[in-house]
Amino acid sequence: MSIATSLSERIAAAIPRGVSVPIPILAHHASGAEIWDADGRRYIDFAGGIAVLNVGHRHPNVIAAVQAQLEAFTHTCFGVVPYEPYIKLAERMNQIAPIAAPTKTIFLTTGAEAVENAVKIARHATKRSAIISFTGGFHGRTLMALALTGKVNPYKAGFGPFPADTFHAPFPDAYRGGSTEKSLAALETMFKSAVEASRVAAIIIEPVQGEGGFSVAPFEFLRELRELCDRHGILLIADEIQTGFGRTGRMFAIEHAGVEPDLITIAKSLGGGFPLSGVIGRAAVMDSVAPGGLGGTFAGSPVSCAAALAVLDVFRDEHILERAEKQGALIRSRLHAMRDQFPIIGDVRGLGAMLAIELVRDRASKEPAPELASRLAVRASEHGLILLTAGIYSNVIRILAPLTASPELTDEGLTILERTLTDLR
Ligand SMILES: Cc1ncc(COP(=O)(O)O)c(C=O)c1O
Repeated sequence: MSIATSLSERIAAAIPRGVSVPIPILAHHASGAEIWDADGRRYIDFAGGIAVLNVGHRHPNVIAAVQAQLEAFTHTCFGVVPYEPYIKLAERMNQIAPIAAPTKTIFLTTGAEAVENAVKIARHATKRSAIISFTGGFHGRTLMALALTGKVNPYKAGFGPFPADTFHAPFPDAYRGGSTEKSLAALETMFKSAVEASRVAAIIIEPVQGEGGFSVAPFEFLRELRELCDRHGILLIADEIQTGFGRTGRMFAIEHAGVEPDLITIAKSLGGGFPLSGVIGRAAVMDSVAPGGLGGTFAGSPVSCAAALAVLDVFRDEHILERAEKQGALIRSRLHAMRDQFPIIGDVRGLGAMLAIELVRDRASKEPAPELASRLAVRASEHGLILLTAGIYSNVIRILAPLTASPELTDEGLTILERTLTDLR
């Protein structure tokens, strides 16, 4: 029995199949942008634990900050006995948030929890109930986050009914015929046919869809959305859980559009590998909730907050935003060259170092090729590269390499991707 088979069998026997593990590799140790298994096989990590490791695995400064925090204390619950790392991190987030008005920040643990809290805050602040999200969007696996998610399989199917008063507008997905005009028209139709604008608390959007397949919202659309929200007293929530923390070359992707959201959800790379999420928002909106209405036992763990403070320092000291732009340019040029070579690549898209290829059976019909995407990911792992799929049709390969990866290592990973595409021909 091969190691991979026995590992798959143990996983299948002990863990529900809803926790999908398409590539059976057992992590032994990791550093920077590389992971090794117990047999010493090395993998270049283009997944980053799903966008969590923008500063790489076990960045020494993050580990040192965590070790120092472990020596001091690991948990008090912020609402019981507050601590400095949470307060300091909130102060720093308020400084870097792309919102001109005074802001406040709450910390939680997971991305879905941040989305749930953003919705709660928006409802409390506006005294309205409806929330609009977008087709193809992903906001998490808890029930309200799922209600807002715009991909049925495998996320929503069988889990309903979902909380009421959520509506999906079409995301302006340029590759599949979407546009700013069409999405704006659909929102106007929605206000006529489904929900009156005066009852909408918030519109939530990922500036670049993550699980949805790295479709970039046109900057013009984000600006129009801001204007529409202002016109109707609706709050704009930027879900920056996957785009955030430098992935697109700006700390927050919405900065590219010059748009100020009212609320921003953050998670993933915020904690540098430790579980941490948050909601940043205009102070007037955040303070609408009465004391005790927000929080959680583990929300804003001191260990994770200490890690996040170190992550922010790494961003400053190691010029991570500039490196993201350089990494993005390198990946983009190689992906374009691959598109010239491989007709199964229908589209190359993304922003900064958040880049993807969409695989199709035929470029003219754009018929999605999900089985090729999953075969590519499995085959690439055999060659030593970890890749993630995405997309409403599960036919997208997305790249989320640590932004600290050297150009040489990034290039090596891309060469494996190219070789794997050749295997599939
Ligand atoms: C944009 C976005 N929002 C929310 C989430 C949910 O985050 P979590 O899995 O930490 O609950 C994700 C996770 O992939 C995401 O990409």
